[in-house]
Amino acid sequence: MPDQVRRGLNGVLVAESELSKIDGDAGRLSYRGYPIAELAERATFEETLYLLWNGSLPTRAELDPFSRELCSLRPIDAAVVQTLERLAQRDEDPMAALRTAVSMLSAGDPERDLVPTDSETIRRTGRRLTAKLPTVLAAYDRLRREEKPVEPSEELGHAANFLYMLTGTEPDEVAAETFDTALTLHADHGLNASTFTAMTVASTHADLYSAVTAGIGALSGPLHGGANQDVMEALLEVDESGDEPVEWTRSALDEGRRIPGWGHRVYSVKDPRAEILEARSDALAQSMGESRWCEYTRAIETYLTDEKGLVEQGIAPNVDFYSGSVYYQLGIPIDLYTPIFAMSRVGGWVAHVDEYLEDNRLIRPRSRYVGPDSRSVVPVEERSDSV
Ligand code: MLT
Repeated sequence: MPDQVRRGLNGVLVAESELSKIDGDAGRLSYRGYPIAELAERATFEETLYLLWNGSLPTRAELDPFSRELCSLRPIDAAVVQTLERLAQRDEDPMAALRTAVSMLSAGDPERDLVPTDSETIRRTGRRLTAKLPTVLAAYDRLRREEKPVEPSEELGHAANFLYMLTGTEPDEVAAETFDTALTLHADHGLNASTFTAMTVASTHADLYSAVTAGIGALSGPLHGGANQDVMEALLEVDESGDEPVEWTRSALDEGRRIPGWGHRVYSVKDPRAEILEARSDALAQSMGESRWCEYTRAIETYLTDEKGLVEQGIAPNVDFYSGSVYYQLGIPIDLYTPIFAMSRVGGWVAHVDEYLEDNRLIRPRSRYVGPDSRSVVPVEERSDSV
């Protein structure tokens, strides 16, 4: 059926990829053949980036220079910090501030005029962007609290360094590892809306800064990355209401509200990333002695599964349902959750752009025209309202 309209490109295959494999009915996800649970358990975010960009997990001799290079690329120009300061004075949303700053980062890139289509240039620019996004975000959060940005550390890994730049204190091992896992889990996920957006922009041979800026824009919506923030706001509402989580959920559904963090275009069962984050959230709760958020999420999940039968209908918890409570327990401000998603997903955007441009074809779908035919233009003075 060549002329059938597939709304939202649902199920349409537009590329071949060796990056993420998703089995939505079995709840399985792997990056380049490695199950996500094993990567979360045994590899760092840096190793995952290396895997996505180079095709195999790094040896120690490959990882060390790779990590050192990322580390050396962390600092951002004073001009970007000044812009962030102005945005903070205007109380800009952090995701919008990140979008603006990422676009501005190209001005400080000595290679910004290179034709962005060869793999080496894409990966080099990708490393710059990936290294700098956490610095931008942490600086923005501090500036809006009227605190001086903290210089990146040369000793800490990507995840721990972000928490350090945010708070000014080195995180403990549990916090650093949990955050590292969250970054790994969000690094790639097939042709989600923001990755497809980045690929579409790059397919015009626009530069990587444009592609990543557009990806951030696509990720910001509540139907994509914005949902993790909505989940935590809902959990706080439960807490403030003083109701049992099940009572709160029942009333929310009666009012016609959607429970955020449920349902996914690709998964008909629980998102495997949610399973891993649920366990991490429990571990954090135990180490911090505060089990409230885990109890709320679990009570809501049990109610929606057992009493409302949502999972049977193919609507199950997705990654956002558990990332919110993990970040909250790590003390991260709620409006940074979606920018943190971008900080991780930039790895996937770069990998997909690189892969797609190897055999680029301008992305240019069609729509079926259903408007009127054969009208003729009447001069403006002679037009009536209905013409
Ligand atoms: C993602 O990780 O990008 C989200 O789960 C959304 C998606 O895959 O469509």
